[in-house]
Amino acid sequence: MSDPVQGFSRFTKEEKIQWIARRYTAHPQQTEELLKKYWNADDQLQRLHDEFIENTISNFYLPLGVAPNFNINGDLYAIPMAIEESSVVAAASKAAKFWGSRGGFRTRVLGTRKVGQVHFRFPGDPGTLKAFVEAAMPAIMQDSEGLTRNMERRGGGISSITLRDKRNALPGYYQLHCEFETRDAMGANFINSCLEQFAATLVAEARTYPAFRDMDQPIEVLMSILSNYVPDCLVRAEVRCPVADLDQDFGMDGKTFAKRMVQAVQIAEAEPFRAVTHNKGIMNGIDAVVIATGNDFRAVEAGVHAYAARSGTYRSLSHAEISEGEFRFSLEVPLALGTVGGLTQLHPLVKMALEILGNPSAPKLMEITAAAGLAQNFGALSSLVTVGIQRGHMKMHLLNILNQQGASQQEKEYLIDYFRTHTVSHSEVMEQLNLLRNPG
Ligand code: MEV
Repeated sequence: MSDPVQGFSRFTKEEKIQWIARRYTAHPQQTEELLKKYWNADDQLQRLHDEFIENTISNFYLPLGVAPNFNINGDLYAIPMAIEESSVVAAASKAAKFWGSRGGFRTRVLGTRKVGQVHFRFPGDPGTLKAFVEAAMPAIMQDSEGLTRNMERRGGGISSITLRDKRNALPGYYQLHCEFETRDAMGANFINSCLEQFAATLVAEARTYPAFRDMDQPIEVLMSILSNYVPDCLVRAEVRCPVADLDQDFGMDGKTFAKRMVQAVQIAEAEPFRAVTHNKGIMNGIDAVVIATGNDFRAVEAGVHAYAARSGTYRSLSHAEISEGEFRFSLEVPLALGTVGGLTQLHPLVKMALEILGNPSAPKLMEITAAAGLAQNFGALSSLVTVGIQRGHMKMHLLNILNQQGASQQEKEYLIDYFRTHTVSHSEVMEQLNLLRNPG
């Protein structure tokens, strides 16, 4: 093993690239050229991106697409989506168009409450701790006033602080379980700052609390951090239409199609192996919007999957039923999103994506994102229970295969045309490309 590098973060960008290229790649010159090819020609824009993280050497592109015709509560949206998977934007657009003429997506925010916790240990009597926390509460609130003033002006702030006895889980373990409203901000910094202040006040107040006089360290704070599990920051999206309105589009009568859709969702409600893939399809839509709008997709993913497992079994996030002659298809997801703060005003493409969406409030963005997730789920299931997923998926993947094989524009045009009437598979594409390149 070679020696670890010292002081890498202090290297210039050029030095970092050279070091990486020489140490880890077979063709350093090519590596350097490739990394620089992805730099933005506008120095100021490049510097902005360089400064988002540490040790930046280049930019990593994802395609930014747009799925138009989303009728959400009567308003028409074109939804920006950043994603690499070939068929996602096409499927979202198709589902949006389909539901656009059937009443569109109805969405509703069910809650916007976020959570954070101060995790601490206390070795003494739980009744004494309870009395202490009650006594300390005015100081906790007062000490955090400087942090909460702005948020309160915007209609948010601390909603509740509760002492939770968690000794069943771990000896001596307690929490301050805290709830917040953060308006249009995702709120991570606000929540974490508040929590750290609560912890500091708790420790300071404990030092002078008479009943703790004989204790060395009554409150041992381990950590203070928001939770990405946000079951009360929840949004619902729904589509519905008379079963007869499903007659035309799926190669079978509407009733059979609706029944097959309901069964597909029932399987995802009963069977975790299927539920994970089912929900992954929903996240294809959700993540793409979350990324395009500069939100934290890791936080969203963690929270959504925890929510899907809240019953103790991992289940579908969406539901389907046939009721009163209607097919009803809905989704509930926890989405802690922001439309101010973070990258939202900083990343030019994020700013533009939000503008395309009409500069939505955070709750409105929750609704739009949930609609994209439901559309994606509808698109995937409607293929799965009819012609299968590969026909559409491989059609969209065709260009990737052709690009991988270095196909010319002329070859691409010919083969795209050919595969309009033939099933795409990797081997069939290779064969047709070969025939084209070696006729006779
Ligand atoms: C692929 O990215 C997503 C699907 O697997 C979702 C699903 O199976 O429902 C098609």
